[in-house]
Parts: sequence; structure tokens; C-alpha cells
Amino acid sequence: MKVAIVYSSKTGNTEEVVHLIRKLFLKERIDVTLYRIAELQIKDLINYEAVVIGTYTWGNGEIPQEMMELYRAFETLNVKRILTGVVGTGDSGYPKFCGAVDEFRDMLYVHTKLIATLKIEVNLQMYDIDRCLKFVSVFRDRLNQRQTIR
Ligand SMILES: Cc1cc2nc3c(=O)[nH]c(=O)nc-3n(C[C@H](O)[C@H](O)[C@H](O)COP(=O)(O)O)c2cc1C
Repeated sequence: MKVAIVYSSKTGNTEEVVHLIRKLFLKERIDVTLYRIAELQIKDLINYEAVVIGTYTWGNGEIPQEMMELYRAFETLNVKRILTGVVGTGDSGYPKFCGAVDEFRDMLYVHTKLIATLKIEVNLQMYDIDRCLKFVSVFRDRLNQRQTIR
């Protein structure tokens, strides 16, 4: 079971969340690799059973520029079988709270097997830990299901 987490973070909020999510996958004994977006060879995406995208939101509810190549890759590569999820941090003071999560969600729903999304208000709080646990457990269950079917 191979999971990739690909993220971008300017001020560290999203980075903190994806580090926690990575830890929770490891606790479930799921093979997971964490990439900053600049470290990922986009063509390697297809080697993963599941991909979690971590993104902040910029501008007026926009996906950060550096994440756009990844967005377009999911639109164009043959990724229909990949389980996907999106986690993001944002600030609800902006009109489009975590708009980048919504943008990714809508596209991934069409092109992949989207299974979970998670929006975090600015930075990780104690009460978010349970939400992250739930996010990871949805992936664990779906990955296990696939193993059983094989
Ligand atoms: C110029 C600017 C524009 C932003 N626009 C939005 C927005 O439209 N929606 C939102 O939810 N958050 C917005 N944010 C808040 C960031 O997404 C939020 O602080 C996030 O946690 C930053 O993540 P990072 O620490 O991983 O870089 C904006 C922040 C800045 C500085």
C-alpha cells in the first residue's frame, strides 16, 4: 500500500498538518512518502495507490501557483484508479475559505477516486487531531478493502 502526500506551504501551517497526517499513516503501518511539491516528479504519481494533496489558499480563494502543474497532471494523466484526498489550511476571514481545497476536490472527484477532504482553520489545534485521525482512517479502510478484493 503506497501513499504519497504532496504539499505546498508558505508559512508552515499546511506543513504541520501534513506531517501529522504522515505520522498517522505510519501508525497504521501504511507505507507513506511525503513530498514538497518541488521534490515530486509528477510522472511518478501513477506509482501510488493513494495521493493526499496538502495546500494552502492564496489570492481570492486560489490554488497556489506552484500546485497548478499537479492540478493539471491529475486532469490529464490516467489516474482514475488512484484514491485521493485533499487537506488544506485557510483563513475563514477570506470570502472563499480554503478555496484551493474546493478547486482540487471538484477536479479530483471527476478524474480520480476522491475519498476525503479536510479544511483546517489557519493552524492545527487540539480538536483537529481527531479530524486528521478520521481522514486517515477513511484511507486505511479503503486501502484494506482493496487488498481484500485482490
Ligand atoms: C495574500 C493572502 C491571501 C489569502 N487568501 C486566502 C483565501 O482566499 N482563502 C483562505 O481560506 N485563506 C486565504 N489566505 C490564508 C492562508 O491560506 C492561510 O494563512 C494558510 O494557513 C497558509 O498556509 P501555509 O502556512 O501552509 O502557507 C490568504 C493569505 C494571504 C497572505
